Formats: sequence, C-alpha cells, structure tokens
Amino acid sequence: MKFEYLIGDIYQKINDIEDKGEIASYIPELLKVNPNNFGVHITTIHQVNFGVGNYNDKFSIQSISKVLALILAYRIVGDEIWSKVGVEPSGTAFNSLVQLEADKGIPRNPFLNAGAIVVSDILLSNLKNPKEDFIEFVRNISNNTTLQYSNKIAQSEKAVGYRNVALCNFIKSFGKIENEPSDVLDFYFDLCSLEMSCKELSELFLFLANNGLTVQNNKSILSESQSKRINALMQTCGFYDESGEFAFKVGLPGKSGVGGGIIAIHPDQYAIAVWSPKLNEKGNSYKGMKFLEEFTTRSESSIF
Ligand code: DON
Repeated sequence: MKFEYLIGDIYQKINDIEDKGEIASYIPELLKVNPNNFGVHITTIHQVNFGVGNYNDKFSIQSISKVLALILAYRIVGDEIWSKVGVEPSGTAFNSLVQLEADKGIPRNPFLNAGAIVVSDILLSNLKNPKEDFIEFVRNISNNTTLQYSNKIAQSEKAVGYRNVALCNFIKSFGKIENEPSDVLDFYFDLCSLEMSCKELSELFLFLANNGLTVQNNKSILSESQSKRINALMQTCGFYDESGEFAFKVGLPGKSGVGGGIIAIHPDQYAIAVWSPKLNEKGNSYKGMKFLEEFTTRSESSIF
C-alpha cells in the first residue's frame, strides 16, 4: 500500500482520538505551544516526500538533538567515546540520577540527559566554536541553512534546569567531565533548543536509513558500521524506560523529545517524523507513539 494514502488515513484516525497526554511543563516556554498541533512527514530513500497536518511548523526538537550531538562526537573521537558513555538501555527516566553513583559517573547511554551532558562535554573539548560548529554540522547534513537554535527555549530551560545542573555536577565529581559545568550546561541547553519541522527532521535523518550516506549528494556522515550502531542505540535506548515498548509496538529505531517530536528510521527505506506536543507519562508523544504503531503495522514496515 502507498505510504501517502496510509499516512493520510492514519493521521485522520489518530487526530480524532482523545489525547491523554500532557505538554511538558518543566520547561515553561514549551507550554506556549498549541497542544492540538499534529504533523507527520516521511522522506524515503527513493525520494518520496510526503507530509500531513502541521508538518511544516517548527518545534523544539529537544532530546532528538542528542542523536546529532552523539554523531558529531563519534565522528571526532571515534570508538573512544564508549569509554565515557555506555550502550545499555537504562530502564530509567530520561533525567534519572540513580544509576550514576553505582556506575561511577559513566552514564548508561548517550540519550539519557546524563549521557548527552557527557557528549556535550566531549564536544566542548574538541570544537573551536562549539555552538557555531555544531549548528554548521547539522545544517550541512541536509543542506538546510535555515536551521536555528531557540534562545528563548534555551534560556527558559536554563532558568529552571536544576536537575541537569545536579547531573552535571555529580558526573564532574567522578572526574568524568573535563570542562566547567556551567559551560557544559549552556551548550547542552543550546543543543536541546534546536527547532525543526517534521519535514526538516525526516530529511535530515534520512542518512541513517542509507548506511550513513546522504541520499541527496552521497556525502558520508558516518561509516556503515557507525550508522548501524547509532540505529542500534536508537532502537534500544531512544525512548528511555519506554524503549522496549516502542520496539514492541513500532519496531523501528527512533528518538523522542519532550517537545513532542519523534524521529524513526527504517534502515534502507525511510525516515519518518511525527510531532504532537502532549506527552505520555514516560515523556514521549502520546499521539506520536500511536501514529507510528499503526503506521508500521499497516504498512508492514517494522524492521522485525
Ligand atoms: O534536559 C532536558 O530535560 C531536556 N532539554 C531534554 C529532555 C528530553 O527531551 C527527553 N525526551 N523525551
């Protein structure tokens, strides 16, 4: 069945269900978004581009940028990165502190806040102008010079980011952060403030469906093996303590953010982005999860 027809049909159905989620309120600026926004966009390696609903509206991608930060750090330091951040699912919430003490400041995986803070520290140590170099890297992947941070979102999170401050200081106490915690956190909040539409997200992430090469111009972002590993991490850790459920119901590597976005990859086929701001109790988009479950079921395009 054609993706276009299916996406339109499932969109109508999910749009009509009662949304039992809640917008993330711990970052005050996120609360300003219209809770009824709902967008979907697919980009395939055979050049199908199709979207419905608010697929062109930009939103705060939040933790989805953790994948991009990891990719840049992986490119720079290679496999050395895995000595500083693990590759195991945590079974804990995205902002949890509990495992860090037993694990001596080495976060279980790079998609937890703790892990992304360590990745931010690595980037800070290795980039000349971290904020500029990172956005340049992201823009280059999809030839999209319009991609921007949101200063408003970054400042809003910084003003109340007590949990992340605690995480960063705690990791630093184990000697696992090189830079000043305040510098690491400023950079981390900037990363999380990136704004994109579903269309931009699905175009940007398509290289992960194409063995690490951009489809547009065959640029190598990651080696085939590195690309496989990023997908593996998205599969096992992309949804925190709901990663098992996402694999069970959707069956694709993916990553969520508290802005209500989800990017999911079907290696060798497509990247699909969904945005609906209200989140379930695990911090993942309520309607986004439901949409993707129905999409992979009806298109029979789960990887399993
Ligand atoms: O650090 C935070 O809490 C946010 N900037 C990012 C968390 C997030 O997106 C979790 N994902 N579902």
